[in-house]
Amino acid sequence: MPSCILITGASSGLGEALAKEHASVGHALVLFARRAERLREVAAACRSLGAAKVCTCVGDVRRRQDVARAAKAAERDLGGLDVVYANAGYSQSGRLESLSLAQWRRQMEVNVEGVLHTVQTCVPLLKASRGRLAIIGSVAGFGAVAETGAYAASKAAVRAFAQVLDLELKPEGVSVTYVAPGFFASEIRLKDADGRPAPDKPEYIPSFILGDTAKVARQVRKAVNRRRRELVLPLHAKYAVFLMRHFPGLTQALTRRVGAARMRRRRIMQGA
Ligand SMILES: NC(=O)c1ccc[n+]([C@@H]2O[C@H](COP(=O)([O-])OP(=O)(O)OC[C@H]3O[C@@H](n4cnc5c(N)ncnc54)[C@H](OP(=O)(O)O)[C@@H]3O)[C@@H](O)[C@H]2O)c1
Repeated sequence: MPSCILITGASSGLGEALAKEHASVGHALVLFARRAERLREVAAACRSLGAAKVCTCVGDVRRRQDVARAAKAAERDLGGLDVVYANAGYSQSGRLESLSLAQWRRQMEVNVEGVLHTVQTCVPLLKASRGRLAIIGSVAGFGAVAETGAYAASKAAVRAFAQVLDLELKPEGVSVTYVAPGFFASEIRLKDADGRPAPDKPEYIPSFILGDTAKVARQVRKAVNRRRRELVLPLHAKYAVFLMRHFPGLTQALTRRVGAARMRRRRIMQGA
């Protein structure tokens, strides 16, 4: 029997790369996201890579019934679930002092409640298979930079979820892996401040820093397969987390300097 995998946020970026990574080793997949057309394209690519079976489920992680539908599809069409990736997310940007309550709530609904819905609807199937749960967080869950307060808070929250779930689920045979990536290539920064697609927005992270998404997905799959508790990647993220953990004052000072330089650059570009 092939392993059965559910991935939220499978229509682009890391979710898409994880789908292709599992497809290439013959696993069966349930792919979940809001964009039906993009999901269909990813599903077709997964079939041609050798996936045993691919189901798509269009929905929003903010709606529990949508995620429950994906879990049902896995049970009905794949016979259960061995691995679940709670991956869907976006980055709300903006200074906390001017963030609206609606923006804050939306960030929490997608990045935190979305993970909770995924966990609560899929855990019964994972218990039955003594399976694996992966929560995709971020380096931002260890330490924030200016103008990413809501995003960082959401990732710190799901990091806490992962720690608690590890305690609660391990005795029942389900492993929990918290994945904390640094920058990798995806659509996350090609969106406006509220996470809506902004096709003209350029990627502002230099390409030499961006992790290769397919490689990130391969490392994530291996870590989840080995039931690792935490994975920080790629290399620049490991250094960042090391500094945040052991030299928090220094990290804060460096982050402040980088933030100030960014503000100066932005003012110059805006002609202020
Ligand atoms: N890229 C990075 O540098 C980076 C760094 C650290 C952590 N991460 C984390 O990695 C994860 C994947 O992001 P990515 O970088 O691969 O970005 P991405 O290319 O923008 O992918 C995000 C995925 O989440 C889905 N999604 C967003 N909101 C959703 C909602 N309400 N309901 C269902 N699906 C939703 C999107 O699909 P639809 O729009 O079709 O719904 C898409 O498939 C996120 O949790 C992100 O925070 C990324």
